[in-house]
Amino acid sequence: MRGPSRYPIFLALVSASNQTWERRVGSTESLGVGIIGLGVVGGGIIDILNDRRDYFKSVRGIDLTVQKIAVRDVSKPRSAGVSSDLLTQNARDVIDHPDVQIVIEVMGGLDPAREYVLAALESGKDVVTANKALLAEHGDELFEAASTHNAGLAFEASVCGGIPIVRSIAQGLPANHVTSLFGILNGTTNYILTKMTDEGGNYADILKQAQDLGYAEADPTMDVDGTDAVQKLSILCRLAFGHSIPYRKMLCEGIEQVSPIDIVFARDLGYTIKLLGIAKPQSGGLEARVHPALVPTDTLLANIKNEFNAIEIVGNAAGPQVYTGKGAGASPTASAVVSDLLYQAELRIAGRQRINRQLVDVEAAEPLATEDIETSYYCRFTVQDTPGVLAHIANIFATHNISIARVIQEDRSETEGGSVPLIMTTHDAREKSMSAAREEIDALDVVTEASQIIRIERLND
Ligand SMILES: NC(=O)c1ccc[n+]([C@@H]2O[C@H](COP(=O)([O-])OP(=O)(O)OC[C@H]3O[C@@H](n4cnc5c(N)ncnc54)[C@H](OP(=O)(O)O)[C@@H]3O)[C@@H](O)[C@H]2O)c1
Repeated sequence: MRGPSRYPIFLALVSASNQTWERRVGSTESLGVGIIGLGVVGGGIIDILNDRRDYFKSVRGIDLTVQKIAVRDVSKPRSAGVSSDLLTQNARDVIDHPDVQIVIEVMGGLDPAREYVLAALESGKDVVTANKALLAEHGDELFEAASTHNAGLAFEASVCGGIPIVRSIAQGLPANHVTSLFGILNGTTNYILTKMTDEGGNYADILKQAQDLGYAEADPTMDVDGTDAVQKLSILCRLAFGHSIPYRKMLCEGIEQVSPIDIVFARDLGYTIKLLGIAKPQSGGLEARVHPALVPTDTLLANIKNEFNAIEIVGNAAGPQVYTGKGAGASPTASAVVSDLLYQAELRIAGRQRINRQLVDVEAAEPLATEDIETSYYCRFTVQDTPGVLAHIANIFATHNISIARVIQEDRSETEGGSVPLIMTTHDAREKSMSAAREEIDALDVVTEASQIIRIERLND
């Protein structure tokens, strides 16, 4: 016998309207789904829908039927779960299909994805997308269009794949002012840094290994230079802080310059190097930045390994929370898409507003200027092994009000006057002061290579 206890979410959705509940209890509603893109993620979506369709029907009361799928090339071989009758090379066949109420965009890229998503929203259809680049670039326009046409625009899969972070922030933390957010937002770079830390080896060799194993794209530029992470951070800033900040204005540095020697010194100092996305409200604006950072080795984020992602978020009421899981791949990403699909279907059936105003009523903002960031630093100077060098560098730091926390001086060079690394960490200092000091230090005759400076983040532990 079916009873309300078997329908917790359905119950919650309809509790605002007894009339809706009476009409729908025990019945099944049918909705048509169209998909644009049938690659890695699209294929994963088909697999999950084939696996869970009966469950969604019997337990959630929703029958989701795929009506049309657009691809670039219909002649490509497809998996057994897709009938060729469903395929088209014209995305308008999906968007304009009379039986499609929800369009899933998993083709990627900016154009024509933007045009297709807008067209679907303008015709009142809900859209589910995994496309972080599209939202980071055109979020303002797309969320506005969704609001104007009372259509849903759901994007769980665009940030950290399988981790339900969007839902957690939007539905789980509305009572909170978010006071900080730290994230390992890119699996490829986390895989590379983990291997460099745990097994040794240099960046280039491990990147090649990651490509061979399918953890890195043939062209990994957007991952390793931080672009992928900063696009995700800009989406999180909209959601968690109500700020629309162009991702190109955020400080963004990749992992290309992280060398094995820094990983070893960081470990000696009690830190692990991670590529972090960081967002914190400050009196001068929202600090929003992506760069490699030393994090204390005994923290949760330092121990998120390989292709896993994690987000540590602090709400003023809820306190600190950490979410972790797989940030990419067919199944984790498709899991997030299908969860959005089901949620949008439930809102549509319940006749509820499908766009969260929190995503539309945002403040256009600039990130806090990089020169105003205040943090502590790890510095590696390559210097001639001659007396007085340490005093010289300490003096430059002092003139810029930078106070030194720790110093590691390597053993003497085997060759008289050869180069040795000199490691220093600092207490909190302004980025502007650190840049000026670095410039002066690098100009010294005794400094033989450009210095390496990596920010230290103590997180919230
Ligand atoms: N892969 C992941 O792990 C992952 C994780 C999170 C988010 N995402 C996001 O998910 C989206 C899709 O990624 P993916 O890895 O699945 O990409 P993909 O494997 O390259 O698949 C892209 C699909 O889109 C189709 N397509 C391309 N241009 C088209 C057009 N003009 N009209 C119709 N169909 C078109 C392609 O058709 P053909 O099959 O005929 O070539 C292909 O089926 C991207 O926005 C990506 O950033 C991916």
